[in-house]
Amino acid sequence: MEVLIPADRIYARVDELAAEIVRVYDGRPVTVVGILTGCLMFTADLIRRIDLPLRVAFITASSYRGETFIAGKLEIRDELLPDIAGKHVLLLDDILDTGKTLTRVVALLIDRGAASVKVGVLLRKIGRQEVPFEPDFVGFTIPDKFVVGYGLDFNDEYRHLPFVGVLQPGE
Ligand code: IMP
Ligand code: MG
Repeated sequence: MEVLIPADRIYARVDELAAEIVRVYDGRPVTVVGILTGCLMFTADLIRRIDLPLRVAFITASSYRGETFIAGKLEIRDELLPDIAGKHVLLLDDILDTGKTLTRVVALLIDRGAASVKVGVLLRKIGRQEVPFEPDFVGFTIPDKFVVGYGLDFNDEYRHLPFVGVLQPGE
């Protein structure tokens, strides 16, 4: 598999993002909400470097890609989400692709009464966005290729890889 972003570059960038987040929140308590399952590694690595009063929660979003690279119907489940009314929420996802997932989840968090919602993504894919959406913290911008590793999957495989790699069709 072609390595797009090696593990050491990811860790260095996550360090920078954490420093930026600490600066922006400036001592305010933050509720980190990760979008499962892709947020797994990014969330775990990032929060360990954030020196702020912090809570962690999760929400589930799946878009049923099945056997193809084409996104399907989006399902959001919030059974794991605690009360976030009045909280400053930092929403984390692995990748901003079309923007549909993050747009829907941000709307849900605002609907639940979050005092503020900021968004951090490890990756932002260029040329794929279908809805206007500006994340507050971005790790890397990447070309329009299907990537796996560091939380990102294809049919739930490859999430455990410590790097981000490009999955060739048929691999
Ligand atoms: P969006 O709603 O189109 O922005 O899709 C975001 C979700 O699609 C992410 O949370 C990922 O789960 C998935 N996704 C988008 N692009 C990729 C990719 O290149 N590899 C793996 N998953 C992806
Ligand atoms: Mg995902």
